[in-house]
Amino acid sequence: MLIVAYLFVINMCITLLCASSDSSAIGNSSNVKGTTLNIGICNFRLGRNCGQSNVTFYLYTNNQVEGEQIVVNKSSSNLLQTAFNVSLETKILIHGYNSDMFLGVLNGIKTEYFKSGKLNVILIDWSDYAKGPCYPAAVWNCRMVGNCLSQLIDAIRCISTSNVHLLGFSLGSHVAAFASNYASKKVKRITGLDPALPGFATAANENKLDSSDADFVDVIHTNAFMQGTPLQSGHIDFFVNGGIIQPGCMQEGNVLACSHHRAPIYYAESINSVPGFWGWSCSSFWEYLIGRCWKSGNQTIMGEHTDRNMRGIFLVITNSQAEYAMGPYSNTIRNFIKMNNDKLQQIAQILLKDSTAVWLI
Ligand SMILES: *[C@@H]1O[C@H](CO)[C@@H](O)[C@H](O)[C@H]1NC(C)=O
Ligand SMILES: *[C@@H]1O[C@H](CO)[C@@H](O)[C@H](O)[C@H]1NC(C)=O
Ligand SMILES: *[C@@H]1O[C@H](CO)[C@@H](O)[C@H](O)[C@H]1NC(C)=O
Ligand SMILES: *[C@@H]1O[C@H](CO)[C@@H](O)[C@H](O)[C@H]1NC(C)=O
Ligand SMILES: *[C@@H]1O[C@H](CO)[C@@H](O)[C@H](O)[C@H]1NC(C)=O
Repeated sequence: MLIVAYLFVINMCITLLCASSDSSAIGNSSNVKGTTLNIGICNFRLGRNCGQSNVTFYLYTNNQVEGEQIVVNKSSSNLLQTAFNVSLETKILIHGYNSDMFLGVLNGIKTEYFKSGKLNVILIDWSDYAKGPCYPAAVWNCRMVGNCLSQLIDAIRCISTSNVHLLGFSLGSHVAAFASNYASKKVKRITGLDPALPGFATAANENKLDSSDADFVDVIHTNAFMQGTPLQSGHIDFFVNGGIIQPGCMQEGNVLACSHHRAPIYYAESINSVPGFWGWSCSSFWEYLIGRCWKSGNQTIMGEHTDRNMRGIFLVITNSQAEYAMGPYSNTIRNFIKMNNDKLQQIAQILLKDSTAVWLI
């Protein structure tokens, strides 16, 4: 109940805030526009203006492993002075709340990409606007950060025709959605890694990640109802191990954070995995929750190599520790059902015992 009440309050704010977050509603006076409102230790960035914000971008390539800063605004960038290779695809990794670009699980994705071949990998750092315990401020700032990122996307498009793929973890998923919409043209692909739920559960589609935000949106759910959304958010949505609590996480200090962080961990492994993560289709997550998705259907692969023509909801199971991928399923469905019966009881216990856990990321 506590969670529900708290979400409701936040959602009320977000709905109001997002609806009125254009600069004209905040005021046209130049001393307010584009500045930061400090409430306690929380930074609410006013307006969508990116100028003088502390949102930064760092480029990594197979030759540039230390990372170098990309400086960009609406009219120019230093991309041509960096190691950015215009003939390669660009992967942009976006962290979430209470985090920064050094987040281990995102750097794990970067490492796997460089093992897989030649790419530009860019990490965005918006940690000054994502600080804990200021969750509502972080949610509010997503739009501005998305606007900053759109300038980078457009700068890349000025010099290169190669694909840009945005990968957002948690709140970063919604930053990706804003960025794609602010850009001159939507990006080809957005991957949502356990897109954040709190603050977005009842938000309109234009304020959160959904399938309209890129040509192809794939989503991995690992902590639905808690730190992640249970809602279908892309063209294809994978619910891993039931999508709520991940195996092996019950033994961890923070079962929710552990489950939430599995989304980028599974994604990283998917890049070079030989067996791969395979899932079977289910008509909806609710069908699954009420136990109707036991039968097998067509299999499809999750993660980096997802089939862009596939649509719908897929269920995936994994091992409880690395290597997580189990390959195509055969006789594993019976085990899956058993595992999930146990898990639903564990989830009920967590909800009863620790309803504030969501906020202790
Ligand atoms: C604020 O600026 C916008 C765009 O520059 C303009 O259309 C609008 O009329 C302005 N509003 C006020 C109250 O000055
Ligand atoms: C963008 O950055 C360049 C180089 O730093 C600067 O000369 C230019 O004035 C900036 N433009 C805007 C609109 O801020
Ligand atoms: C860019 O990448 C292409 C393809 O891997 C490679 O042939 C080329 O040498 C690279 N350019 C630079 C400047 O590194
Ligand atoms: C931006 O960075 C500067 C220098 O590190 C810092 O003084 C300032 O507080 C930061 N702004 C915000 C909104 O955190
Ligand atoms: C599996 O895929 C085939 C070919 O795409 C399709 O005809 C069939 O209906 C699918 N089966 C199920 C159970 O989804």
